[in-house]
Amino acid sequence: METVLSGIRSTGHLHLGNYYGALRNFVKMQNDYNCFFFIADLHSLTTHPHPDDFHASVKIILSEYLAAGLDPDKCALFIQSDVPEVSELYVLLNMLAYKGEMERTASFKEKVRLNPENVNTGLLTYPVLMAADILVHRANYVPVGKDQEQHLEITRVLARRFNNMYNCDVFPEPQSFKFGSGPIKVPGLDGNGKMGKSEGNGIYLYDDEKTITKKVMRAVTDSGPTEPNSEKPVVIENLFTLLKLVSEPSTVDYFEEKWNDCSIRYGDLKKQLAEDICKVTLPIREKIDSIYNDEAFLHRVTSEGRDKARASASATLALAKKAVGFRAF
Ligand code: TRP
Repeated sequence: METVLSGIRSTGHLHLGNYYGALRNFVKMQNDYNCFFFIADLHSLTTHPHPDDFHASVKIILSEYLAAGLDPDKCALFIQSDVPEVSELYVLLNMLAYKGEMERTASFKEKVRLNPENVNTGLLTYPVLMAADILVHRANYVPVGKDQEQHLEITRVLARRFNNMYNCDVFPEPQSFKFGSGPIKVPGLDGNGKMGKSEGNGIYLYDDEKTITKKVMRAVTDSGPTEPNSEKPVVIENLFTLLKLVSEPSTVDYFEEKWNDCSIRYGDLKKQLAEDICKVTLPIREKIDSIYNDEAFLHRVTSEGRDKARASASATLALAKKAVGFRAF
């Protein structure tokens, strides 16, 4: 069976865009591939999170992924820092990564621009650590968004360079995982494209009813249709897209009709949308809480995940070290 791997950022909460996008696909992949999913807590150290908040942020995102459908019995779900083989491979790969090519990485340049006061070398070699994550399991596929494509390309370069330098074929070159229909694009509430964390236009699975209602009622609209059966402007189309994700088809049809005969009232549409979003998210929110408070369960999940990941990682690392020339005395 082929191997799929994905790292999960350990900061922030899951929003509806994640839920209907990447997460849905992860849940499906669990059945068809040998899956490794992990919380990338080492990567998050580049921004120097406070030690008092560090563990809780990992625990929150882990609880949210579990509540939203990742099944630790079907995949290896683990914490990156629980697998020291990753850091060891990172050291080996760093010897093959050149300063110039790291400096030319788009994500590095962007981070330098945004935080000129914290240009640490962990940031510079962020793609090397990511390559170690992927190559240590000899993953075949990595589902990545546009912003991570270049990191995956660097991973292929490092795999190729290692294999050439040491005249071996330890590392396969990972490909980006393409979904049949492409990931669903969930629009934000501000009329500005995709729902995202940095955009501040998101609804989080962990939002309570009041917050969700407030966010939806504040969504951008226009002054309403002036001609029957007219095309919808983007901001209105976005509300319908969200409605299609969370509501019954009959509800969508009802508001389509109201749009088409110009009798639509955006207040009613938003009220319905908020209600239906809550119907989806509130049970997940309860699950997040119960998982977050179940220390025994989280201990079991992370221990089993770590064991599966270390078994795979240590086998690869042994091959890599042998190729480099390490020998036992
Ligand atoms: N860099 C990825 C992100 O910001 C997270 C990540 C870390 C990752 N290691 C990975 C993704 C390995 C895929 C494979 O989203």
